[in-house]
Amino acid sequence: MNETNCYILGIESSCDDTAAAVINNGLVLSNVVATQEIHTQYGGVVPELASRAHQQNIVPVVHQALRQANIDKKQLHAIAFTSGPGLMGSLLVGTSFSKSLSLGLGIPLIDVNHMQAHILAHFIKAEGQTPPNFPFLALTISGGHTQIVKVTHYFEMEVIGQSIDDAVGEAFDKSAKILGLPYPGGPLIDKYAQQGNPKAYPFPKPKVSPLDFSFSGLKTSVLYFIERETAKNPDFISENIEDVCASLQYTIVSYLMDKLKNAVKKTGIKEIAIGGGVSANSGIRKALKDAESTYGWKTHIPKFEYCTDNAAMIAMVGELKYKQGIFADTNVVASARLKL
Ligand code: KG4
Ligand code: ZN
Repeated sequence: MNETNCYILGIESSCDDTAAAVINNGLVLSNVVATQEIHTQYGGVVPELASRAHQQNIVPVVHQALRQANIDKKQLHAIAFTSGPGLMGSLLVGTSFSKSLSLGLGIPLIDVNHMQAHILAHFIKAEGQTPPNFPFLALTISGGHTQIVKVTHYFEMEVIGQSIDDAVGEAFDKSAKILGLPYPGGPLIDKYAQQGNPKAYPFPKPKVSPLDFSFSGLKTSVLYFIERETAKNPDFISENIEDVCASLQYTIVSYLMDKLKNAVKKTGIKEIAIGGGVSANSGIRKALKDAESTYGWKTHIPKFEYCTDNAAMIAMVGELKYKQGIFADTNVVASARLKL
């Protein structure tokens, strides 16, 4: 075990957010995120533009994180960085920056799996939040992943269900694009859904094995539905956007909940923690809260800033590894398809 009072810098650059954070014994001292606006006009993340933007942002973002934490880089005990999964060009920026900084400062380097970080974000100390007890089930829902993970200890995780095609965030974003909404469309679908009727239009739930997910068919059925309706009424989308979004969100949320129910039945574990950008969705948050009284589950929903991509979760994993003396050597490489 290493000394307990440690300052860890976390660096995240796996997709389109350049982020840096400082954590001290589970408390986040700073959590800076530069979101790349450039992708909005393309309707999705353009990998080459993302890595260029990371190169521009990384130094100012790290400076800001240190300044806000009110510490000097010489006070840092280790640098934790996302080594995967993610976009290769994006990961490389964070990886090479972190290696150089750790070498320059003469402090340990710690590689972090982004998906593990979304789960371990629950161990960040935050007001009104209690960390989950082991074993628990983690539902990780983002623009890149949809997984149900059985977590028996910090670094003992088993994926027991996952999407066989698109991630749930893609289902939100691609459906939003069909509705003419800008990228990322998930938050906008959520916003309109709150004013609409969730039972207005039935969308089919894709059938796959009990713990797995499929979302590509949903996007296609949204496309055909919109083509059919706009052929009859060219103003269909603008006149019915709330009901369409509410129906779509209802379908996705109840599909996620069906899978969680299957996982609880299979494992007997009733403690559930969600993570990833889609866990910001108001529908899934409400459904999980309701499940506490309906099914007797104990549910954990992280603070909004620790749901979407952030570096505080990377620093959190860094701290857990630092205290156990788990370090990377300087030959560590970024891995776009890193598994849990
Ligand atoms: O975890 P994240 O920030 O990045 C990835 O690792 O992918 O997740 C981003 C995803 C996007 O697909 C975005 O549309 C979705 O999270 N998202 C939402 C909401 N907020 C973010 N989807 C539905 N409802 C929301 N409120
Ligand atoms: Zn993520």
